[in-house]
Amino acid sequence: MARIPQETIDRVNDNADIVDVVSKHVDLTKRGRNFFGLCPFHNEKTPSFSVAPDKGIYHCFGCGQGGNAVNFVMEYEKISFVDALQQIGKELGIKVEFSGDAKSKDFFSELYSLHTFAAELYHKTLFSNQAIKAKEYLTNRGLSEESLKLFKVGFTPKNSSFLLNAIKSKKLSDEIIQKSGLFGRSNSKYYDRFRSRIIFPISNSSGKIIAFGGRVFGSDDPAKYMNSPETPLYRKSEVFYGLNITRKYIREENNAIIVEGYTDLIQLFQSGIKNVIAVSGTAFTNRHVNQIRRLTSKVYLCYDGDTAGVNASLKAGYSLLKGGVEPLIILLPNGVDPDEWIKKIGPEEFISHGIGKAISLLNFHLKTSKFFDVSSSNKSNIIKNIMSMITNIDDPIIKHSIIKDLSQAAGVEENEIIHMFSQQKGKRIPRESNENQKINLKAFSTVNSKAELGLIQVLVGNDFEAKSIIKNKLDIGQIENPMIKKLIKILISTEEKNPADIISHFEEAEEREIISKLLIEDDQTTDFIELASDCLSTLSKVSIVEKIKQLRLKIREMESNDENTNVLMKKIVKLEKQLNG
Ligand code: UTP
Ligand code: MN
Repeated sequence: MARIPQETIDRVNDNADIVDVVSKHVDLTKRGRNFFGLCPFHNEKTPSFSVAPDKGIYHCFGCGQGGNAVNFVMEYEKISFVDALQQIGKELGIKVEFSGDAKSKDFFSELYSLHTFAAELYHKTLFSNQAIKAKEYLTNRGLSEESLKLFKVGFTPKNSSFLLNAIKSKKLSDEIIQKSGLFGRSNSKYYDRFRSRIIFPISNSSGKIIAFGGRVFGSDDPAKYMNSPETPLYRKSEVFYGLNITRKYIREENNAIIVEGYTDLIQLFQSGIKNVIAVSGTAFTNRHVNQIRRLTSKVYLCYDGDTAGVNASLKAGYSLLKGGVEPLIILLPNGVDPDEWIKKIGPEEFISHGIGKAISLLNFHLKTSKFFDVSSSNKSNIIKNIMSMITNIDDPIIKHSIIKDLSQAAGVEENEIIHMFSQQKGKRIPRESNENQKINLKAFSTVNSKAELGLIQVLVGNDFEAKSIIKNKLDIGQIENPMIKKLIKILISTEEKNPADIISHFEEAEEREIISKLLIEDDQTTDFIELASDCLSTLSKVSIVEKIKQLRLKIREMESNDENTNVLMKKIVKLEKQLNG
């Protein structure tokens, strides 16, 4: 496997001038040691995007994104790690080349070509006599041959080494096979992830296939849909199904219709409603909002007509609203999804009844919470509830226009709404805890999690004595949060002092958000040695308390069986002594 030598990566990280790199795209102003500008990754009117030239990193206090120069170029230009590294390397005069076998291809292009190959194999199979039933099923659902071809729909039989056998002659490395997400592994043997399924290839915006969604067919697998996991090619929070084909129609119409499913999208497209994208089984994130904002500022949410669909519409709707994209909701009949609906009513009626009668998000929220049917005291609760969804909008222009719309929709004076709003403001609403496993620094409120975070603060700081206290004394088993655990393990095992190098160990954007925040905010006043020992003692106290609790439970159980509990009692006494001493 060809790879870029770590020394080259380190050299680029050490030499890249973060201010140079960022200021090609963002106007930066110096304030103190750092530079500030308007964040290119989210919509804002006051600069919260900061760049620390001495550390070689950036962090946005608004949306949380952060990283080093290479991360910035990857995120901004949506290119791969290797491409970003090469681009920056070129400007610095550092040759970024693969070591090892000169013939072996780039890691990413091998992954791409494996996906293209798999998609072609699956697609060919759908039209073979291995898939007569599956093909018939799709045809009966109204999907035309032309649509199946345009969206490269495929089929994979029950055989658990169907794809595996087909790629045998390619002699792909274990790394490619593992990282593709197309295979599972048991007893050190690989097997096809997708079996007995109708396959929907998922492409990135430039049309390269990067993942698959598979709908169960002809087996009793309880998972109706199975999707590729997150891979180096597939970043779920950035991908919309169908966008590679529908982008030009979205630009033409200047709005997008968002649906939940693959079949919803294909069916709408086939009937002539082409400005559609699908979220397809992933959570709707702020990154999705950023993608949309580059295309259009108006979105129709067309989710299934069931409770899950209503909740998902509200959630996606508020994310869009906060991001400055106007969300309108298409109301579907109960229990119907867009696929079934368009087949029933046809495109003309979909346009006149669906799109034409779409309502604003605020109206939708009022309607689904039965605002217009309830007593006035309940009405005020509903408004407060809506307020709570928008309290953390920073942009005053967006906020004001929402208040105006809400006042109109609910028939309540603007002033009264503003009053309720200021009452609501005191109560803090946690920020977007739903985004995968994203860590929200504000959510670290328990003693335990504060201590875990404190350890990270020490480990990224520059007090070596404090760091070595943690390295020597920490029992990693006492860390509860799995992401923090991973961060600590990485931080303990690396010797880097340069923040831009430290950050290069974190591939996940969510992890970089925490790390960049901690790295950029160095607090000169903290006594790191004290912090380290406080955090360590908190953690071991918490774990002793937990042990005592477990022992007490055990004792109760033994007592009810008339067993002798002396040994356990003594253990508790000992632990309690430890706790107080
Ligand atoms: P639906 O259950 O509404 O399926 O899920 P559908 O699209 O209407 O599929 P058909 O019509 O029964 O064939 C909506 C979308 O949510 C994702 C899929 O992307 C699906 O298209 N999903 C659903 C999953 O990822 N996993 C699941 O188990 C179910
Ligand atoms: Mn359906």
